[in-house]
Amino acid sequence: MKRQVVLTRRIAEECMKKLANHFHLEVIGGDNSPTKEVIQTHLQGKELLISTVTEKIDASLIHSAPQLRIICNFGVGFDNIDLQVATQKGILVTNTPDVLTDATADLTWALLLAVSRRLCEGDRFVRGKRWQSWTPTFMLGADVTGKTLGIIGMGRIGRAVAKRAAGFSMRIFYFSRTRLPQELEKRWQATYVPLEKLLREADFISLHMPYSAKTHHFIGYHELRQMKPTAFLINTSRGAIVDEQALLAALQARQIAGAGLDVYEQEPHVPEAFMQMENVVLAPHLGSATKEVRIAMGNKVIENLLAYVRGERPPNLVNPEVWR
Ligand code: DGY
Repeated sequence: MKRQVVLTRRIAEECMKKLANHFHLEVIGGDNSPTKEVIQTHLQGKELLISTVTEKIDASLIHSAPQLRIICNFGVGFDNIDLQVATQKGILVTNTPDVLTDATADLTWALLLAVSRRLCEGDRFVRGKRWQSWTPTFMLGADVTGKTLGIIGMGRIGRAVAKRAAGFSMRIFYFSRTRLPQELEKRWQATYVPLEKLLREADFISLHMPYSAKTHHFIGYHELRQMKPTAFLINTSRGAIVDEQALLAALQARQIAGAGLDVYEQEPHVPEAFMQMENVVLAPHLGSATKEVRIAMGNKVIENLLAYVRGERPPNLVNPEVWR
């Protein structure tokens, strides 16, 4: 007998087909995230859930689903889930690491290059039919090659960003919860520095730490004030790691040169003021958005779910303490 799995969203078609070979699928959301009430109703009596990073699986939702045994999150981040409560209730939580590392690092670089070389501004200029002539002093950006890149958070994605920086002959500073072993620092030519030094000296600062209460507004007024007026901030991690109001104020006061953002505090809401700024490049949370990666993420979800139904430990368990 096939077991039932609740999906908050449809995922790649080929993954839906694979899932359907093993489970009865109950898809509750369309292009938008279903509301908490809708998820709550669909979870009654259900054991298996596939959620995405946009659904808040909070304490009250978890408490209202006493049969729930596993949440397979479609995403490497799982800050949308109250992990502590899930763990207390003995619910397994899994994520989809590794497969999106390169795509997210690529998008980080796309934002970094786009904002420093004024690519989106230039595109708007051409489409607006405002371009008259090549001019020696026109639309000058900032060099990337040879500059200093500051990476905050040196996990998988931070390291993949560092790897790409080698092609731009950059000096790499990093700050992270844990210092890398010397051998890895050598491999990525990355120097561990105190946060203050990184903020003061980097020309580009890129954020790659997971979101938690500890990293909430990690970059705020104080940190932005320390950055160089010529520096750029890139965020492809989670919106609330940056205090958006502080960033707006810093950009308005020209305390920093620009920002490349893929994530926002209240997605999909993006503050109107950002949209008026030519020196800000805005992407709609596209870090992992390639066809290949979204299929690979779906396959990870399936592996985790199938392991659980076979009675095996899911490979990407983020709360191993729940595993008996
Ligand atoms: C993740 O997997 O956490 C990403 O933010 C989704 O693109």
